[in-house]
Amino acid sequence: MTHTQLHPVWDSFIRGYHWLQAVTIGGLWYTGTEGLMDWHFSLAYFLLALISTRLIWGVFGSETAQFSRFVRSPVTVINYLTASLRGEKPSYSPGHNPAGAYMVVAFMLLLITQLTTGLFANDDIISEGPFAYLVSGETSSLLTEIHAINFDIILGAIGLHLTAIAVYSLRKENLITPMLTGRKRFNDEALPKVVNGIWGWVIFFAIGIIVYFTLAKDVVAYLF
Ligand code: HEM
Ligand code: HEM
Repeated sequence: MTHTQLHPVWDSFIRGYHWLQAVTIGGLWYTGTEGLMDWHFSLAYFLLALISTRLIWGVFGSETAQFSRFVRSPVTVINYLTASLRGEKPSYSPGHNPAGAYMVVAFMLLLITQLTTGLFANDDIISEGPFAYLVSGETSSLLTEIHAINFDIILGAIGLHLTAIAVYSLRKENLITPMLTGRKRFNDEALPKVVNGIWGWVIFFAIGIIVYFTLAKDVVAYLF
């Protein structure tokens, strides 16, 4: 006999990463469009450390965080989506559903592109990314343009993400509470291995120190 009970699904690092990322991107949007470059760079370095840790956590972290476990074949995704469109509630192992997994990968690629182009960008005034001096002025301007266009794509992806989550709630599947509490109700035969998120925070702290001393120190000193 199986029971449906609350079980751990998202460790504390995944949850903290998710909400810190959402707030930081809001801040990057505001500071980028307002030209508040010292804050923009500082927030970007914070996000750089956060996302780097998420990528490492995607290999060594909880099973629900591991890319190799949650990214399924496109066929699985199509079957999942067609069943959903028929109004069924296809079951999937605890963690990201097959379609959501591709959204995670898309977010990662978009954010890595955003961070990389930012490092080579310039604002035509006095601020330039720390690696802009390595490329010609033309290349830096081109990467700055990509930085602006890619952000619009990110906004589109966020819109899609929020729409998908709203559709799930209309269909009585609450995804938000588990992303806050870490726990979700599912069959106790399918328990994923959720490790202590503290290790994720330790990695984040170590990467944060490296990013601070190699890239962020000078610009953070200007903030206050
Ligand atoms: C800047 C805005 C946001 C970005 C870039 C973003 C990105 C992401 C990413 C990358 C994941 C995968 C988490 C992982 O495996 O590490 C995720 C999951 C999730 N996000 Fe967001 N998110 C944003 C805002 C929000 C907001 C405002 C909400 C709530 C209304 C939300 C609700 C969720 C939920 C519920 C999941 C888990 C989905 C599942 O069960 O598979 N997100 N998000
Ligand atoms: C995921 C992280 C990032 C996000 C979401 C982001 C977002 C933005 C946005 C929305 C703008 C305004 C674009 C416009 O003018 O329409 C901008 C501009 C800019 N960003 Fe970022 N950015 C990120 C990372 C970085 C990084 C890592 C750097 C450099 C260290 C950087 C440097 C710049 C510069 C120099 C500009 C000014 C460009 C201009 O004046 O046209 N950004 N960013």
